[in-house]
Amino acid sequence: MTATSAPTRDAQPVLARGRVTLRPLATAGLAAWKRIHAHFRDPEIAFLNGTPPSRMPMWLMRRVLRSDARRPDRRTYGVFDERDDYVGTVELYDLRGAEATLGIIIGERTHWGRGYGPEAIEALLEHAFGDLGLERVRLHTFADNPRAQAAFKKVGFVELRRVPARNDRIDVQMALERDAWAARHRLGGAP
Ligand SMILES: CC(C)(COP(=O)(O)OP(=O)(O)OC[C@H]1O[C@@H](n2cnc3c(N)ncnc32)[C@H](O)[C@@H]1OP(=O)(O)O)[C@@H](O)C(=O)NCCC(=O)NCCS
Repeated sequence: MTATSAPTRDAQPVLARGRVTLRPLATAGLAAWKRIHAHFRDPEIAFLNGTPPSRMPMWLMRRVLRSDARRPDRRTYGVFDERDDYVGTVELYDLRGAEATLGIIIGERTHWGRGYGPEAIEALLEHAFGDLGLERVRLHTFADNPRAQAAFKKVGFVELRRVPARNDRIDVQMALERDAWAARHRLGGAP
């Protein structure tokens, strides 16, 4: 590729927005992996994410997540704050055709409710609708996670439906279309 080529769909550039920088998970260092390990073992975060807390040792988690991140249908990024500390993970998965699913974990409680989640999502959406040329990004969250719903609505996601999920929970399905995202940006409505 020449220096003037457009980014290919396989490229995983460093992405930035406001205070956050997203770096491909494959490039994370030891300090970041210690935090990732803690985030994935945290029972409250696991509940919010709808998964059991991980019991893997760090070396195995690193191997598994690095291998997952290499899948062609995934783009997994570490979220770094303005001090360049690792604060969470954001990704696109099930990337097929012009659609993908978004997942996010801001794992540092000190960073909850301070806008880091929406900034990280905005950075990834710009890549999704720009370089990757997606038409639609969808996601799932739970009805008992109002903070996540508020954060997703803030960046333009709209609720599609609610369906019963395991353990008496309600799955809230949301999506954002490229045209709606572009219109918000043209009108200056993005946070
Ligand atoms: C969900 C998450 C990505 C949101 O990112 P964030 O940076 O904390 O989001 P924000 O700073 O925009 O805060 C969320 C909004 O929810 C609102 N909120 C918080 N608790 C709320 C509640 N109980 N009811 C209603 N709104 C609530 C906040 O007031 C804030 O809105 P405001 O800025 O207009 O006041 C992040 O908190 C996170 O990763 N949490 C842990 C894991 C998780 O829940 N992941 C999502 C799984 S689908």
